[in-house]
Amino acid sequence: MADYTVEFVGTGEELTVSETETILSACLDAGIAQEYSCRVGMCLACSAKIVDGEVNQQVAVARALTEAEAEEYALTCMARPASDLKLERGRYPPSIEDDIDATAREEVDDGGSGDGAAADD
Ligand code: FES
Repeated sequence: MADYTVEFVGTGEELTVSETETILSACLDAGIAQEYSCRVGMCLACSAKIVDGEVNQQVAVARALTEAEAEEYALTCMARPASDLKLERGRYPPSIEDDIDATAREEVDDGGSGDGAAADD
């Protein structure tokens, strides 16, 4: 069983993570405020850009990330280190923008107010 060093670029935060442990779990144990929500690889809240190194996150690829995105982004709730890592916290894959655009289009189709009421002027 190997341990790897995970560094969060620009924060000065660094921790040791086992190849069998998720990066998020190690962050929470160490008191590092890594964002998360679902913890099952669906919401992208825990995303981080992979600046250097490799992760093992096959399950995350099958859920929220495309295979191409999984080369550049780690879902820390699912990803386990496969080498020493440098990650940039709070960076999200392009597919999250598609979700935001779809939500905005739905609001426009509903009249743009988001509450179903038409503007009155
Ligand atoms: S916490 Fe939702 S994808 Fe990681």
